[in-house]
Amino acid sequence: DKTSIMSRGALVVVEGVDRCGKTSQTLKLVESLNKRNIPAERMAFPDRTTWTGHVISKYLSDKDCKLSDEAIHLLFTANRWEKVEKIKESLNKGVTLVVDRYSYSGIAFSTAKGMNFHWCSQPEIGLPKPDLVVFLNINPENQKNRPGFGTERYETSTIQKKVTEIFHGFAKSEDNWQVIDANQSFDKVHSDMLYKIEEQIKNIANYNTPLQYF
Ligand code: TMP
Repeated sequence: DKTSIMSRGALVVVEGVDRCGKTSQTLKLVESLNKRNIPAERMAFPDRTTWTGHVISKYLSDKDCKLSDEAIHLLFTANRWEKVEKIKESLNKGVTLVVDRYSYSGIAFSTAKGMNFHWCSQPEIGLPKPDLVVFLNINPENQKNRPGFGTERYETSTIQKKVTEIFHGFAKSEDNWQVIDANQSFDKVHSDMLYKIEEQIKNIANYNTPLQYF
């Protein structure tokens, strides 16, 4: 039967600081994959449409919204846990997921505020582990030249700088991370990402790689 020969979709995460082009690149990737007859969908964290997402959105946009660092950290994680069934279902159906931010953003932003890295990592244990993380690496000069920061919490250069350092640490220590030079043109960044993703999809099919968990 058809399902036994169809391989699962890839779990692909795109990480990077604000203004690196994550949103437009993830949208374009899904479009290009679909054009090549590779079923793909976009997902983004935080997902502001769920109950935890409403609180997260309020916290980010309203500085009078007082939640302890621990409470908001756990809400961001809960927001991912809410999606686990959906993630597994899509992957099992052969749909590749292109995810805008994931656990790494969760750990990086909270650690950038001064929280303990180990503590921040614990509630991610058991979540599906991305097959591939594409890190859009942009130099600060180029970041400055792109449309400005909004007014949400964390949109300050101090936080962004610390987050960048933490991402570079992940890129060095994690075997599933790939760094893409996001200072290149939109189209070049797109084709570099597409190449990595297609390579990953082929690997999963060739070796029948099971989904892993943190
Ligand atoms: P967004 O701009 O991609 O919607 O993300 C909103 C903010 O939330 C952004 O500053 C990064 C931050 N964030 C966390 O602090 N923890 C998380 O787990 C995630 C996914 C995002």
